[in-house]
Amino acid sequence: VSELKAKIQEGNLTLELLEQLRVEFLGKSGKLTQLMPLIKTLPADEKPSFGKWINDAKVEMESLIQTEKNELLKKELELQLSKESIDVSAPGYEFKTGTLHPLSLIVEDLEDYFIGQGFNVAEGPELEQDLYNFEMMNLGVGHPAREMHDSFYITETELMRTHTSPVQARYMLKSEGKPIAIISPGKTYRRDPDDATHSHQFMQCEGLVIGKDINFAHLKETLLQMARHLFGPDREIRLRPSYFPFTEPSVEVDVMFTKKDGSKRWIEVLGAGMVHPEVLRMGGYDAKEVSGFAFGIGVERIAMLKYNIDDIRNFYTNDLRFLSQFKGE
Ligand code: PHE
Repeated sequence: VSELKAKIQEGNLTLELLEQLRVEFLGKSGKLTQLMPLIKTLPADEKPSFGKWINDAKVEMESLIQTEKNELLKKELELQLSKESIDVSAPGYEFKTGTLHPLSLIVEDLEDYFIGQGFNVAEGPELEQDLYNFEMMNLGVGHPAREMHDSFYITETELMRTHTSPVQARYMLKSEGKPIAIISPGKTYRRDPDDATHSHQFMQCEGLVIGKDINFAHLKETLLQMARHLFGPDREIRLRPSYFPFTEPSVEVDVMFTKKDGSKRWIEVLGAGMVHPEVLRMGGYDAKEVSGFAFGIGVERIAMLKYNIDDIRNFYTNDLRFLSQFKGE
């Protein structure tokens, strides 16, 4: 015991050296353990006191070692704590979150608004069949208005859709004569050279309502309320006669904007009209029983007006300095 005590008091111990000491004294062939067999050689009356002595020594040594071990562990922890430090005044890490694309903001806003009016949101494929994109929109083969849409044909009968109107045809066929109120946002494609106001890939949001006694006043009020939702409560709209093969009558819709110098001007934002009887018929509806209106909004145009953007290419060049300005509302 005193030998062990002396060794511990010498200091300079580490946890490993202490373990070595434990083995040296108390291990299987340790100094104390080796004394144990001697008990057999002793006369019977000395055995108990020898046993007690051995046992006391063992307990004392174990406690010496345990105390020293605790001491060493404590020192180790203190050392570690003194080496490490936390600077509570250091600035935190910045978590970079993305932002919604401005066109997504407009589309989500339109969806929310029209869902609130009882509309459904419908989707259609971007790679579309000539049948839906043109034919069922009353643009038969050879129709001169097909040329208004310079298209990307992929095969003889398939093209990248030139507008979201084919979703009208698909939805009518699916609805089998039942009333309809949908909007359908999505990507569209035209073979135009890209410049500040043209993009070969752009977005539209279609609207279609079909039911009994749907008339032009419904269309006009729907568009007025939408314009006010998008651009402010006192906004005025103006309808100009126009032509689309799939609507009759057709209109182009202007919204009033006030320029910085206070002057007012009308800016065209969408095309619309009463669904052409031929389109209803091809969609499986009886034009004598029901009527409908449709509209097609240019999503970029809305975003450019709303956010004061003067070049459509900003939407498609993925410049983070541009995109990160749109945090949503
Ligand atoms: N599809 C037309 C276009 O691309 C827009 C439109 C949709 C017009 C629905 C009338 C009705 O220009």
